Amino acid sequence: MTNYYSCKIDELANYTGKEVTLAGWLNRLRSGGKVLFLMLRDGSGVCQCIVEKEKIDPELFDELKHLGQESSLQLTGIVRAEERSVGGYEIAVSGAKVFCKSKDFPITPKAHGVEFLMKHRHLHLRSQRQWAINRIRHTVISAVRNFFNDNGFTLIDTPIFTTAAGEGEQTLFGVDYFDEKLHLSQTGQLYLETAAMSHGKVYCFGPTFRAEKSKTRRHLTEFWMVEPEVAWITLEELLSLAENFVCSIVSTVLEKNRNELDILGSDIESLEKIKGPFYRLTYCEAVEILKGEKTVEFMAAQLEGFLSREKRLKEKLKELTENQESAKKQWQKDKIATELNEINIELGELARKIENNPKHAKLAKDFVWGKDLGGSDETIISLMHDKPIFVTHYPKQVKAFYMKANKDDAKVVDNFDMLAPAGFGEIIGGSMREENYDALMERINEHGYNPQDYSWYLDLRKFGSAPHGGFGLGIERTIAWITGEKHIRQCIAYPRMMDKVYI
Ligand code: 4AD
Repeated sequence: MTNYYSCKIDELANYTGKEVTLAGWLNRLRSGGKVLFLMLRDGSGVCQCIVEKEKIDPELFDELKHLGQESSLQLTGIVRAEERSVGGYEIAVSGAKVFCKSKDFPITPKAHGVEFLMKHRHLHLRSQRQWAINRIRHTVISAVRNFFNDNGFTLIDTPIFTTAAGEGEQTLFGVDYFDEKLHLSQTGQLYLETAAMSHGKVYCFGPTFRAEKSKTRRHLTEFWMVEPEVAWITLEELLSLAENFVCSIVSTVLEKNRNELDILGSDIESLEKIKGPFYRLTYCEAVEILKGEKTVEFMAAQLEGFLSREKRLKEKLKELTENQESAKKQWQKDKIATELNEINIELGELARKIENNPKHAKLAKDFVWGKDLGGSDETIISLMHDKPIFVTHYPKQVKAFYMKANKDDAKVVDNFDMLAPAGFGEIIGGSMREENYDALMERINEHGYNPQDYSWYLDLRKFGSAPHGGFGLGIERTIAWITGEKHIRQCIAYPRMMDKVYI
């Protein structure tokens, strides 16, 4: 059997002047009478393939001319360099074989609403944006694994069916496990701590489940988290580990995915600034910032920015609507319709931001020591910085039972959250773990947990307890920050949210 293709689109540079066969899907077709311009994508890239009527069989020309978006086919032809073409190469087609004709592909180049695209996720994955995001996700995940593998960590796969709650009982997904009530893992951490006492430096990486009732842009019910855990480490060393780790993810994406970042319109210049040291704030300092005069001014300037952007967009909307009415050609009307749709989406988002700004400013001003930082508080702090920010030493009362109390101030714990800059908010949560048996037992009781469920976890504190700590990084939030995607649902192929599980 002959192969379906002789090279991939991203290898065309090696074949200039030679004949190749590509196999892929029709992205777009433009007909110029005696010439057809077929945009073919094959998973590695997109290439313009030019079919001249005189150069191929007339019946084949006719068949190609009527192909619908997403038809699958093979094309053969000579490769030529063409600067103006996407990817820098074109194919002068001499032969073709249509594999499957596609008719009325539901996702057209026109803008569609999120609801529609989510319902058609199985087809939407073929879009250029989703293609670029998933390639970046692939890089992020390999960078994560390489970082830990290259730094002496051992991978430990922790269970998904669990008995012990790690991150609070409100977000547990219950499972009937042969008539026993268990839940899906919220974190691999507790099990990982046991392995750290065997290997010293370990990590786990897997799906994580939280019954989050909130529908925010930062929450999924199923997400991927990587968690390192290290014995004989200090909080300061843990922060350095997290800093080096995040820098290595960002620099790997910058090195491997320029093209994808360009497609997504990501802020490459800001990503290039992501180098240590990151900002370090204690929770108390973060609270001072939130309640301070600078935040009042910052929020007022932000509101002013939103209002003037809204004004400009409304003017543009008026102008485009007039142009649309006077446009003669259907393709012109369609192009304007796409722009109008995009402007309307942005106007909707702006209206929400304009409404929320004073509420968030008030929440910040009225912040009381002892509360957890809310989403809007994190956003404000994150917007005020151009590099990630560590916020350390949160009040004990708002954090998980396993976090170690600070030795100088028992009201706070030795923990940290890392906030990504530019408004993205938390991507990492981590801490030193309580290693003292009695102190941990007290915390378990305070939280009303059953010590029996944690007997194996308590054993770690009986048999050679050692100072240790670790953290968890959310993969989808990290990708959203790097790519500039507003909602993390776009950063996993099949997102799971409170109101979305059907596909
Ligand atoms: O701060 P969290 O809850 O920390 C833990 O689970 C610890 N056990 C980790 C550890 O110390 N080993 O979650 C860690 C990260 C968050 O910073 C966020 O990036 C992500 O996991 N995350 C979510 N991502 C998407 N949807 C959700 N519902 C998330 N909840 C947490």
